[in-house]
Parts: sequence; C-alpha cells; structure tokens
Amino acid sequence: MAYKKDKELIVEWRSPSNLAIVKYWGKKNIQEPLNPSISFALHNATTTTRVRAIPSTKAGFTFSLDGVHIDAFDNKIEGFLQLATAHLPFIANHNLVIESSNTFPHSSGIASSASGMSALALCLYDLQQMVEGSSTQSVDYQAISNLARLGSGSAARSLYGGWSVWGKTPAVASSHNNYAIQLSDIHPTFLHIANAILLVEPKSKKVSSSQGHNLMHNHPYKRARINQANDNIEKLLCVLKNGNWDAFFEIAENEALSLHALMMSSNPGYTLLHPHSIQIIDKIRKARVEQQLPVGFSMDAGPNIHLLYPQQEAGRVEAFIENKIKHLCYQQQVIFDHVGDGPMEISSIV
Ligand code: PMV
Repeated sequence: MAYKKDKELIVEWRSPSNLAIVKYWGKKNIQEPLNPSISFALHNATTTTRVRAIPSTKAGFTFSLDGVHIDAFDNKIEGFLQLATAHLPFIANHNLVIESSNTFPHSSGIASSASGMSALALCLYDLQQMVEGSSTQSVDYQAISNLARLGSGSAARSLYGGWSVWGKTPAVASSHNNYAIQLSDIHPTFLHIANAILLVEPKSKKVSSSQGHNLMHNHPYKRARINQANDNIEKLLCVLKNGNWDAFFEIAENEALSLHALMMSSNPGYTLLHPHSIQIIDKIRKARVEQQLPVGFSMDAGPNIHLLYPQQEAGRVEAFIENKIKHLCYQQQVIFDHVGDGPMEISSIV
C-alpha cells in the first residue's frame, strides 16, 4: 500500500516472554552477552503493543502499560529508541504513541522486558518498512532480534516459537552475539514443556537485572561463569535432542542456582531469594526422588520459581502444587504456561 508522507500509521504485534534454561548474565560492548543463552518461548505470557506513528518535525513518544503511564519505563524506552534510530531512521521524524498490555501481572517473575521489548521492536521494524514502502510480507526476524536486544538482552530470544539461542557459541554454527536464532532438532518432549510460575513474592526487585549485569564486570567468578555457561550450552543442546528429562532438570537447576550464587558473590553481594523460594526448591527435589514426579525448576533474577514438567504429567503435578506448594505462594498464586509459537502480527493500518 502506498504511504503518504504526512499520514499516520498504526501497527500492532503480540510477542511472548521466554524462559532461559541457560542464563544470560553480564554484558559487554553494547548489549552483547558475556555468554550464550538458550530459552523457550512462553505461550500465555505475552505483551501486545500497538504503536501509532504520527509524522513530526522531531522524535517523541508516549508510553502506557495497561492504560497507565509508568515513569520508570520512560528512560528505558527512550534509551532503546535512541539506539534503534540508527537502524530505523523514521523514528527521528515521528511521534510514537506506544500502548502495551500484558497478559500477566506485574512483577510476577515473568520477564516482561522480553515480551515488551520484542513486541515494540516488531512494531518499529514494521513501521520502517511501511514508511519505506517495502513489502511487509517478509519479516527479517534476525534484524528484529538485533533491535530487540538493544532494548533488553533477553528480548532478542522472543522472536521465535519454541527454542532459541542468543550469543556466539561454537556449538551452533550460525549463532551470534547480536541476535538470537531459532533452534531446530528439538525432541518433541521438549516442545511440550509445561511451566507453572510459582509466585513467591510480587514486589519489584531490590536490585534490577541491569545492575546485576553490571556487577559481572569485576566479578571474581566471571571467567568461571563464562566457562560454565558454555559447558551447559553444549550439554543442553545434546539433552534437547535426546529428550532426557533428568539431565534437563540437572542443567536447569544448576543454571538457576548459579545465577543466584553469582548475585550473592558479587560486590556488593545481594540475595533475591525468599525463605519460601528455598522451601519450594526442597519440596520439588524431594517429590522427584520420593514420588518419582518428573519436576524440576528454573528461576530468573527474582524469588519466584518456574516449575518445569512434561505437559502430559499435568494432572499429577497440579495435584502436587495444590497439596504441597500453593500455600507457600503469594496469595496462593500460580500461573500456568507452556512452550509457545512465537510472535504474531495483530494488525497494521496505513
Ligand atoms: O534481558 P534482561 O537484561 O532483563 O536480563 C535477563 C536476565 C535473566 O532473565 C536473569 C536471564 C535470561 O537469560 O533471561
């Protein structure tokens, strides 16, 4: 469709959050990861973002989440738009009205920056295409992953369904520090992972992920962490092919606990765990041994626990959550999710 210079454009995308099994922790250069990471896209936890681009003599934006303006996000979006302008020159002469909504509650232990920044990157990329009059039929997901990375590292991995790797690793030929790529050759069992998010504490974090990434610069275990993550990437790639759940849980839990150990041993050290996080971890490990329940866990930079299990075991695992875990969750809240199919365009209007 022909684009008229003074015309307003509207695009809307829905993009998922993701859960990293091998974690990205620490950066170098501009938003490049210290180590490669691997994650899967979630299905229910998504952000829908609608951007209205109004031609203007200078750049500008407003942002609202679920209809509310949130000051704290303005700086993050402004920084992102500044970096993105080098790739998307239309930003310099448009005023952007950005309206986002999440399907999950704030501070629920779901990475809203991953879904939020990837949805925004998709909208901005589309708008640039429309301004240039290019076809929007072919979407260059690597280019958009590169853009999303500039907003939030983990967002680079939210452009694909199933599993993605972000960061250069000799184990994946075309892997790159600037963008994520989708992983193929995944055993069907790991395309059907269920993830119950056990909400332990909904408060926002004492120390943000950005501060945590920065503390890796002079971290005494920096080199060891890079080696550990690279080893875990190789192990996880084998496990994702062969479908071994026990080996999968071993890697996921090693990564989650190592992430928190890095926070505790940084300078200054800090802990984001809650007493209930530890109690839940103990119960999960006990259920695996004593009840042969196929459950394991992951964690992000927060106190909440991501319970992982095969989707076909949902009945037994949900009974376990109900009887043994729920009372340890904040207001008994559990959010059920599973592996998803990646982003989706909702609409575009010229
Ligand atoms: O994308 P950021 O800067 O919010 O960092 C995310 C870091 C972790 O969620 C802890 C790990 C990961 O790889 O997603």
